[in-house]
Amino acid sequence: MEKYSSLDINHSSPEKQTDWWKAIVHSINDGVLVIDLEGIVQLVNPEYLRITGATPSIIGKPLKESRPGAQLTEILVDRKTRVGVYRKTGNREYIVDMAPIILDDKVIGAVSVCKSLDEVHKLTQELKLKGEKLEQLQKKMSSLYQANYTFKQIIGKNMGLKDAVNVAEKVADTDLPILITGESGTGKELFAQAMHNDSKRKNNPFVPVNCAAIPAALLESELFGYGEGAFTNAKKGGKIGLFEIANNGTIFLDEIGDMSFELQAKLLRVLQEKKIRRVGETRERDINVRIIAATHRDLQQLVKKNHFREDLFYRLNVISLHIPPLRDRKDDIPELVDAFLQSSIINLSLDLESINYTISRHTLRFLQTYEWPGNVRELRNMIDYATCMMEGTEIKIEHLPETITKNRIDISEFNETTSSYNSLQEAVQDAEKRFILETLKKFGNDLEEKKRAANALGISLATLYNKINRYNLDF
Ligand SMILES: Nc1ncnc2c1ncn2[C@@H]1O[C@H](COP(=O)(O)OP(=O)(O)O)[C@@H](O)[C@H]1O
Ligand SMILES: [Mg+2]
Repeated sequence: MEKYSSLDINHSSPEKQTDWWKAIVHSINDGVLVIDLEGIVQLVNPEYLRITGATPSIIGKPLKESRPGAQLTEILVDRKTRVGVYRKTGNREYIVDMAPIILDDKVIGAVSVCKSLDEVHKLTQELKLKGEKLEQLQKKMSSLYQANYTFKQIIGKNMGLKDAVNVAEKVADTDLPILITGESGTGKELFAQAMHNDSKRKNNPFVPVNCAAIPAALLESELFGYGEGAFTNAKKGGKIGLFEIANNGTIFLDEIGDMSFELQAKLLRVLQEKKIRRVGETRERDINVRIIAATHRDLQQLVKKNHFREDLFYRLNVISLHIPPLRDRKDDIPELVDAFLQSSIINLSLDLESINYTISRHTLRFLQTYEWPGNVRELRNMIDYATCMMEGTEIKIEHLPETITKNRIDISEFNETTSSYNSLQEAVQDAEKRFILETLKKFGNDLEEKKRAANALGISLATLYNKINRYNLDF
């Protein structure tokens, strides 16, 4: 076959040039028909014949003869382009674009370009299927990233806790950044979820990220995603980041104090510009994400030591919520125990209808002297454990895990059996004396420790001193 190059065509004969343009028109994937100024068909390509069902015999004849309804000839007069005109011949449907051909400001003909509707139907169908699939994926994603807790499920009446709940409820439905502080297991994520569910973002994703659990080198691409070929082993087509997943919802940045200094700078930029850039890409993407950060660390201290960026700290710390440790709100323990006991029983599918499961008063009292280093999470796990261990319907000291009871001075003092006394008063006083002594031994003997012991006992410091004197309890 003869080959043309641009150089050949410019210097070749007029016939050759015409061949060249014809060859181009023939190779086009849409149907093309050209008429001259007289309305005579000068050129059609095979695709045109296929789509419209016309035969090559129309070439050289007036278009109006073979296709009486054709609008193309009108264009020779009004010079107006037409786009997306629907045509039907027999059962063939197609869409036509038409335009005048203008040379030196004069109309010398007109061209019609058509696409079969079969094709359009096919594409529409494909698009619809893709759209449905996308919708399904989005639904699946939302169900993966859902917040379960609401404010109603936050148990506790302690003042310290209530203060935090009050602030959280006030700012839940705003876009203000929040910083939640508190020891591990105090309920930081619970608060974040409750706030998300109390905002207009509640039907969009809640995406928790534990910044301490993801290696620093990976965290950036986890948060912001990466573009194709960003690094070796990068997935084809790149990867979406958690910020993009959280779009229109909330991202919960847990253990933010553990984020690397470099990444802190990038996070600050995201907060300020509301745009993210995937690793290895230059394009920026708009995002609309509410940020709730949490840490068990003292961020202000980290700022002083130059481990946490001061600018980011002030940016995040617009609203700060502090959740007190469980040992400072032991008044909430009975209610928490009760709720966890019920849910534990439901999880174990024990027979709820006929039996009333409880915890013995002694055991509950012991739980109020324990320090709970793992806070509410530890209490919850402990109840789960005890529910499994319990024989009968009541949780007793011996059903508690050893890790909790091993530090007790004398377990027998909490045994459920009672010795005989001469009077009720004697029994009460003896129990009181032993319980106070036990608690003091546990907390220690200096002022601060006595204050905490009094708190655990549910009495004032003054009362505790009175009792120490009365029972001669100083040790
Ligand atoms: N006030 C509370 N009421 C009910 N459950 C709580 C409360 N505080 C914490 N929990 C439970 O304790 C566990 C730990 O809470 P989480 O929010 O994960 O703590 P953190 O994020 O501070 O480590 C969860 O199972 C949570 O449901
Ligand atoms: Mg947590």
